[in-house]
Parts: sequence; structure tokens; C-alpha cells
Amino acid sequence: MKITIIGTGYVGLVTGACLAELGNDVFCLDVDQRKIDILNAGGIPIHEPGLEEVVRRNSAAGRLKFSTNVEASVAHGDIQFIAVGTPPDEDGSADLQYVLAAARNIGKYMTGFKVVVDKSTVPVGTADKVRTVIAQELSSRQQELPFSVVSNPEFLKEGAAVEDFMRPDRIVIGCDSTSEGERARDLMRKLYAPFNRNHERTYWMDVRSAEFTKYAANAMLATRISFMNELANLADHVGADIDAVRHGIGSDPRIGHSFLYAGCGYGGSCFPKDVQALERTAQEYSLNLQILQAVEAVNNQQKQVLGNKITQRFGKNLTGRHFAVWGLAFKPNTDDMRAAPSRVLLGELLRAGATVAVYDPVAIDEAKRVLELDFYDAPELLTAVRYANNPMDALDGADALAIVTEWKAFRSPDFDKVKSSLKQPVIFDGRNLYDPSVMREIGVEYYGIGRSV
Ligand code: NAD
Ligand code: UGA
Repeated sequence: MKITIIGTGYVGLVTGACLAELGNDVFCLDVDQRKIDILNAGGIPIHEPGLEEVVRRNSAAGRLKFSTNVEASVAHGDIQFIAVGTPPDEDGSADLQYVLAAARNIGKYMTGFKVVVDKSTVPVGTADKVRTVIAQELSSRQQELPFSVVSNPEFLKEGAAVEDFMRPDRIVIGCDSTSEGERARDLMRKLYAPFNRNHERTYWMDVRSAEFTKYAANAMLATRISFMNELANLADHVGADIDAVRHGIGSDPRIGHSFLYAGCGYGGSCFPKDVQALERTAQEYSLNLQILQAVEAVNNQQKQVLGNKITQRFGKNLTGRHFAVWGLAFKPNTDDMRAAPSRVLLGELLRAGATVAVYDPVAIDEAKRVLELDFYDAPELLTAVRYANNPMDALDGADALAIVTEWKAFRSPDFDKVKSSLKQPVIFDGRNLYDPSVMREIGVEYYGIGRSV
């Protein structure tokens, strides 16, 4: 099938590459010339395990093309996926300017039937806005062409995006019941048929419910995390181990084991913005989503938990103190630093006068870029940051180690080396990687999250 992907970011590139892998003829559009140049030169602009091979294989086979040519991209696909960003506006609502710009271009250049798929995470009612914009463009060209707007939200996780896309636990598709909607449903069924071969994974619904499902899923996952973080903070006071509690409750199938890990807060491009956007949607209807407001507030506090533990141990003024930080990306296996808890910790340490040595397996370049933005008001503080070449190099002469991201490489370090490299053997573990009793045995002063047993 002929597919166009508008927006070649995390979701667009993975969607395009994976649909090409299934034999479709895919055209990926982006407004960012730099991204398109990297892709056309055989590289990929993001770190995502397994993606480069899929992109390379399908580009070589001629099934996957990258361009900034809007007219050619609209001409190409019978199905047009909109996969552009929906960042938070100043009031926290989803900024739809990129989605609507993409829709405008479709209306401007389409010459026949198109299925327009909202793949971006968009508030309930956005499909109607997309439909209106396309209709306006067509009417300004005095054209009456058939099209249908479908909602097909994406549930992939960064760091496992290719695997998640290729082996989805569900595919949610919202279509309307017009004749164009029926035509769209047939094309979408054909497109996703390879995923439904062994058992049906597609949940068909109306457009608004599909749009809502995406926010409900992210809000539920974020809620579990904030709930566990709140319990972890209590566990620290009462002397319980939140990790033991996690096993104890996760074994109940009604609760399940996933997304119960306490830590230094959730980051990333989606949970923080989607929780906020759902709250704003509710406010438009004069409703307060009290649970979600608490989820957001708990997470904002939780991102400060490592910094607070450090200042409790070393005092509020950290001048003359030096810390090692392992992990900068918002989670392992990505270089994405959007809303990463490491940014909050570095802000606290540097503004309190400390110097730091930081290490991340893939996010160093991205860290340099985002820290310039975070410290636009005090760029001189960035001279106190040293970018280390490996985890051990970061430890040299530090008063303590803080762990922010649970990269595999941090799970079983040589603790003798860790102890001898640090000025004093103190570890603040924001991802609960180590066993507190083992740390005690080997003489490490250990601060986990909710593990003061
Ligand atoms: P991204 O910022 O990585 O990519 C968006 C791309 O769209 C950028 O490359 C940008 O240059 C391009 N773009 C903007 N306007 C354009 C236009 N008019 N025409 C063509 N290209 C345009 O964003 P992302 O992380 O891929 O997220 C995209 C959407 O998918 C968001 O709504 C997000 O919430 C949702 N989502 C993201 C993930 C994830 O893991 N990142 C997972 C599920 C859903
Ligand atoms: C999340 C969802 O898991 C995806 O299903 C969804 O498609 C995506 O958002 C999206 O809409 O963009 P992602 O943000 O890539 O995916 O990564 P997650 O693995 O969900 O982690 C998000 C954050 O939560 C990370 O900072 C992680 O460290 C944190 N987390 C996760 C915890 O603190 N505890 C947990 O138990 C799980």
C-alpha cells in the first residue's frame, strides 16, 4: 500500500520504517531538513535500538523514502499518517499547530480520496478540527474530494519502539460511520492485517473513544508510578522496602507487576505532557481531574527527591562538593532528554554550588544541547559540568554517586572500584538498582527510594 508519514520523529520514523518492513511503499515527510539529510545519507537522527537496520534495509529496497517535499508527500500516500509533535502549550493543553498545519497541507494538495490518520496523541475532538481544516482548504480550491479522518494512536515506548510497533499488544482504530469512514476502515484493516494473523489485536471504536483511549492509557501508567513513589516516600519513614512491597502487591494478577517501580520520577515526552493535557481537557468542561492533578504534583516533587536526599546528607550549600551522576536520558536505551529527571537534579546540584561529572552511554550530545537551554540564565554554571567517557571515569574524587537512569551497564559495577574512586562511598540510587543489605555489607552508605530498611 502507498503510505505517507507526516513528521519523521520518534513515532513517524518507527511507523514508516516498520510499515515499509511489511512491504508497504512509504514516503516520510519532515520540515526539518537536517533530519531528512541524515536519513538520506544512511544515518538516523535518534538513538533507538534496531531502528537503523530496518531503515537501512527498507531504504535500500526502495520502499522507504525521506523528503521535505510537501506536494510529493501528499500525492504519494492513499493513507496519510499525521505523526507530528503535540507539545504542551503554555497552559498545559496540547498545542495542535503542527497537526493542523499537516492537515492544511493535505487539503491543499490532495487530488483524490485520502485516509488521514491521526497517529499523534491528540485531545478528544481533534479529528473534527482536522476534518474542518481539510474541508476549508478544499473549498478554497473549489474542490469537493472525499476523505476520512481516522484516529490510530500509538502506544510504543522509546527504547523498545521497533519491538513494540512490530508486536503490538493492541491496535486501536477509531473510524466514523460515514461511507468514507467505511472505506477508511477497509484500508486500515488491510494495512494492519499482518499484525492480526494469529489473533485479532485491533480494537475498532468511534473516533473520540480512540482519541480518549490514548490519554487514558498514559494517565493510568503515570498514576501507578506516582502512587508507588508516594508509597516509597512513606516506606522511607516507616522503615519498609518498597521493592519488597512491589513484589508483594504485583503478584496479585488484578494489580500486575508492570509500572510499579518507584524512582526519581517519570520523564519523557509523553507522560508529563499527556497528564497535563487531559487535565486541561477536563477543565474545558469545568471538571477537575483530582487524581491526575495529584499524579502530576507527586511527580514534580519526586524529581527533586535525589537532590533533597543529597542536601539532607551534605547540607544546602554544596560549594566545594563534587558529585558523579550516572544516567541523563529519561530512561535507558534512548538519548531522549525531554522532561528527564536528570535535568532537575543537575539544576539543584549546580545552583547549590556543586561541580558534577556526568556519564550516559548515548545521551551526552543531547545533554549538552538541553543543558544550554536549562541554564540560559546562568550559563557560567555549566563550566562545573564534566562529561565523563565511562561510568568509572565519572566517579573520580566525587563525594557521592547519584544514579538517575537504570542503564544495564550500571547494574553490577565493580563495587571495589566504585568505593576506591569515590572520595567517600556514598550512593544515591534514584532507580533502586542495588540491594540495600548488600550495600551495607560492603560498606557503602546507600540511599535508595523507599528502601530505608
Ligand atoms: P518528535 O518531535 O520526535 O517528531 C515530530 C516531527 O514532526 C519532527 O521531526 C518535526 O520536525 C516534524 N514536523 C512538525 N511539523 C511538521 C509538518 N507540518 N510537516 C512535517 N513534519 C513536521 O515527536 P514524537 O516523539 O515522534 O511524537 C509525535 C507524536 O506521537 C506526539 O503527539 C506524541 O505524543 C506521540 N507519541 C510519542 C511517542 C514517543 O515515544 N515519542 C509514543 C506514542 C505517541
Ligand atoms: C510511554 C508509554 O509507556 C507508552 O506506551 C506510550 O506510547 C508513550 O509513553 C507515549 O505516549 O509517548 P515512554 O515515555 O517512551 O512510553 O517510556 P516508559 O517506559 O513508559 O517510561 C516513562 C517514564 O516512566 C520513564 O522516565 C521511566 O523511568 C518512568 N517509569 C516507568 C517509572 O518511574 N517507573 C515504572 O515502573 C515505569
